[in-house]
Amino acid sequence: MVKFSSRVPADGTDAVGSILKAAADPRIISFAGGLPAPELFPVTEMKAAVERAFDKHGRELMQYGAAKGVPALREWALHHVAEKEGIHGELENVLITTGSEQALDLVGKALVDPGDVVLVEQPTYLCAVDVFKSYGAHLVSVAMDNDGMRTDALEETLKAHPDAKLLYTVPNFQNPTGRTIPLARRQKMAELAAKYDLTILEDNPYGEIRFAGQHVPAVKSFDHDGHVCYMGTFSKTLAPGFRLGWIVANKRIVDKLTVLKQSADLHTDNLAQYATVEYVQNNDLDAHVEEISALYRKRKQLMIEGIKKYFPSAVKYTNPEGGMFLWVEVPGVDDTVAVFKECLKNNVAFVPGDPFFAGKPQPGAFRLNYSNMAEDQIEEGLKRLGEVLQKYVK
Ligand SMILES: Cc1ncc(COP(=O)(O)O)c(C=O)c1O
Repeated sequence: MVKFSSRVPADGTDAVGSILKAAADPRIISFAGGLPAPELFPVTEMKAAVERAFDKHGRELMQYGAAKGVPALREWALHHVAEKEGIHGELENVLITTGSEQALDLVGKALVDPGDVVLVEQPTYLCAVDVFKSYGAHLVSVAMDNDGMRTDALEETLKAHPDAKLLYTVPNFQNPTGRTIPLARRQKMAELAAKYDLTILEDNPYGEIRFAGQHVPAVKSFDHDGHVCYMGTFSKTLAPGFRLGWIVANKRIVDKLTVLKQSADLHTDNLAQYATVEYVQNNDLDAHVEEISALYRKRKQLMIEGIKKYFPSAVKYTNPEGGMFLWVEVPGVDDTVAVFKECLKNNVAFVPGDPFFAGKPQPGAFRLNYSNMAEDQIEEGLKRLGEVLQKYVK
């Protein structure tokens, strides 16, 4: 018998894997996954970028590369976060990662010893829960309202856990709720991090996919002493398949993460990095992101209209100003997985809320994705969902 480490999840605990597998049946209209709209991938432009990358850097890109990443891509990331988020630094503050998922894992590995307190939003990104758990974190959830994490609750939690090491947050169009934290709360978060010597891991995969409201600057832009690590990714703006992300943090942290990254994969794929540099230098990424946002705006709107039309009126839902997800709360439901199973029979799927909670789950809550289904399927899918929900809400 293999003697697995305590990091390895127990058999039968991959609830989300089973849900996504069940939802993959082509007859099912699935709002379960978190995939971008593939019809907008700039395939032709990227193919040309790959060719140019080979023409210019063929041997370099086929050779081993630097753990911190291709300098031109790090330069791009540095300018990008300065222009979009008001985050200023030097090249030494940037590390290219294999998707932001790797940044999450490296930060978990670098900071978390078994038993350390890690604060997360309630609910939060489920893979972050898995990462921090794998390093033995004692996860403590911080309450949210419609404006994301409540900073009064954060302060109370920090008073109770003054030695908390890390706070993980997705401040823009959070996965799973779609909520966005307003400016004053972000300032407060940065203030509390300095006061309690807490590291904040700010994860921003969705911030640029804004289709309503005003941009809010990153928590990192209010950080004066290196307490905030900021993560970005190309996954939602260009393509998740290239596995390209970046982290901007204080040099000491970046250097430690670089050593850990070397042990994980030596460096991020060179072809993806060089080709992406070519893409951003020769194409208008902002215009591309606007196109994505316009499509998601339309799809989100259709989803909201479907909810209003087909769901029982007691059902609550978020109405995000960007990103890919919205969050539904159905009163009177104790077993969300039972609702999910019934929806599957009706050929429609979502992700039940339970795995997004580090602590006790909120019954009757679930996540809907609106980026990946065509418009006619959104209407039909909401109708099917509504038929099931009507049975649960009296
Ligand atoms: C909040 C959040 N963080 C990180 C990731 C991982 O993204 P990447 O593709 O950059 O690894 C995702 C993916 O959906 C996400 O929703």
